[in-house]
Amino acid sequence: MKSPVIKVFPDLEAVSHHAASIFINLSAKSIAEHGRFAAAIPGGSTPKKLFELLALEECKNKIDWSRVHFFWTDERCVPVEANESNFKLAFDLLLSKIPLPAENIHRIKGELPPEDGAQDYEKALENFFGKSGLPVFDLIILGLGKDGHTASLFPGSDALQETKRVAVAIQPVRKNFSNGLNLGKMGNPGIPRITLTLPVLNNASQVIFLVSGSSKADMIKKILGTAAGGKHYPAGLVKPVHGNLLWLMDKKAGDRITT
Ligand code: 6PG
Repeated sequence: MKSPVIKVFPDLEAVSHHAASIFINLSAKSIAEHGRFAAAIPGGSTPKKLFELLALEECKNKIDWSRVHFFWTDERCVPVEANESNFKLAFDLLLSKIPLPAENIHRIKGELPPEDGAQDYEKALENFFGKSGLPVFDLIILGLGKDGHTASLFPGSDALQETKRVAVAIQPVRKNFSNGLNLGKMGNPGIPRITLTLPVLNNASQVIFLVSGSSKADMIKKILGTAAGGKHYPAGLVKPVHGNLLWLMDKKAGDRITT
C-alpha cells in the first residue's frame, strides 16, 4: 500500500485543471496499455469544474472517447432527470458535449428500487470487468463530505463492512446522537443511494480525491494530518491495495495540514 500523494493548489480552478491533465494522460496510458479507460466519477459540486474542463475543445480533443467508459462511484435513487441525479450532473456538464458512444455510459439505474438498482449495477460491472476478481478501475474520482463520507459510504454505515459485494444500496441514515456519533447528513436524508463498496475503491489503479473549501479542512486534518490516518472515517479507509492515491485540494481545504 503506497502512501497518499497530497497536492495543494491555490483554488478549485487549479485543482480542476490538474485533475483534467491527469485524466487526459491516464486515459492515453490506459488505452495504450489495455485498449480502454474505465473511470468512475462522483456527484457533488467539487467535480463540476473538472467535468466542464474535459468538455472544452482544449481537453476533449486530446482524449479518445471511443475507448473511455464512464461508471459512477454512487448515485441517488432518483429518476435520471432529477436534479439530485449524479448521472444528470455529468450528462449536462460533460457527457452531452463529447463524442462518447452511448454504450460506454454505465450509469447506476437510480430509477429502480434501490436493491434492484444495486444488483443491476453489479451485473453491469461483471459484464464489463469479468467474473474473476474485483473490478479494476483505471481511475476512480472521489469527493469528501464534511463528515468524512465518500461516494455514498457514510460514517457508521454497515456498507463499510462489506467485503464481498461490489455495489450496495444505502438507506437514508438520519442523524443519530444517541452514541455521540453523528452519522452525517446524506444530502437529502430522504433519498436512498447506491454506492461502490470499499473493496472496489481500494482495487483501483488510481484514486483521486478532489476536495475544496474551508468546510473540509477539519476532516482533511483528521484523515491526512494525524497518525490515526482517519481510519474512523470512510474516506480515510480508501487506501488502494496496489494502486496510487492522490489527494488534490485547494488551499482552504488543506489549511490545517500545511500550516
Ligand atoms: C455524491 C458524492 C458525494 C460527494 C461528497 C462531496 O453523490 O454527492 O458522491 O460523496 O463527493 O458529498 O460533495 P461536494 O463535492 O459537493 O463537497
